[in-house]
Amino acid sequence: MKGIILAGGEGTRLRPMTLVTSKQLLPVYDQPMIFYPLKTLLQAGITEVLIIVAPDRAGDYLRVLGSGKEWNAKFTYEIQDKPGGLAEAFVIGADFIDDQSVTLVLGDNIFLGGDAEIRDAITSFKTGGRIFAKQVPDPERFGVIEFDSSGKVISIEEKPPRPKSNFASIGLYVYDNRVISIARKLKPSARGELEITDLHKAYLAAGELDVRVFTGEWLDTGTPDSLLAAGNMIAQSRSSGAKPSA
Ligand code: DAU
Repeated sequence: MKGIILAGGEGTRLRPMTLVTSKQLLPVYDQPMIFYPLKTLLQAGITEVLIIVAPDRAGDYLRVLGSGKEWNAKFTYEIQDKPGGLAEAFVIGADFIDDQSVTLVLGDNIFLGGDAEIRDAITSFKTGGRIFAKQVPDPERFGVIEFDSSGKVISIEEKPPRPKSNFASIGLYVYDNRVISIARKLKPSARGELEITDLHKAYLAAGELDVRVFTGEWLDTGTPDSLLAAGNMIAQSRSSGAKPSA
């Protein structure tokens, strides 16, 4: 199993902080944001990690993360010239993934207290696509997953104005090697991006999308409020002695 962290994008919602460096290197309490999703991958046993970054920020990542030796891992870097969408990670990362399965984690997502279920989802993975859902108060901001009464997934929609459920698709995804060919065939959405939700629709149509409900804490840290909330959550978990997934 290979790992990819997507840490590109322009971080426009966090300007002016992101004029200095990449969003995913901004501090969340006492560590750069990317350390948290990186540790989530490493704790699940993934040691070969591709970090996808924006062109003008590559030097910052090399300085902060280096070769991976200090983490007992191997880091590889690729540039995403412009934010072409989350699913573009598999087009950019095709050579790195080679003939393996892959776990993608978003560089601005933090998972707390869910180590065991993430590790299990990754180590027991065989084929298809496996994603996580989490109930949120504002599903219209996310990929939204609809289940039937037996818990089977019926639909998945990207940021629907009228969400069919309050289950958001969270930023950690596990796929078999077919993800490369599926991503290569995707067409950009109206906002000009290769959408991860379209990838999930393809796996769902093939009857091969496994969705697990995540019971840990999850935060997307892309806005000033959520960045502050994440910092407070990590600080609290440290002072209470809880072992963060981070
Ligand atoms: O956070 C979970 C959500 O992430 C999912 O529920 C959605 O289905 C998924 O589309 C995504 O939505 P966001 O609107 O939150 O994605 P955002 O554009 O903020 O990008 C997420 C991260 O990926 C962020 O750290 C920037 C990085 N990124 C984004 C794009 C579009 C890249 O590195 N390259 C890109 O092309």
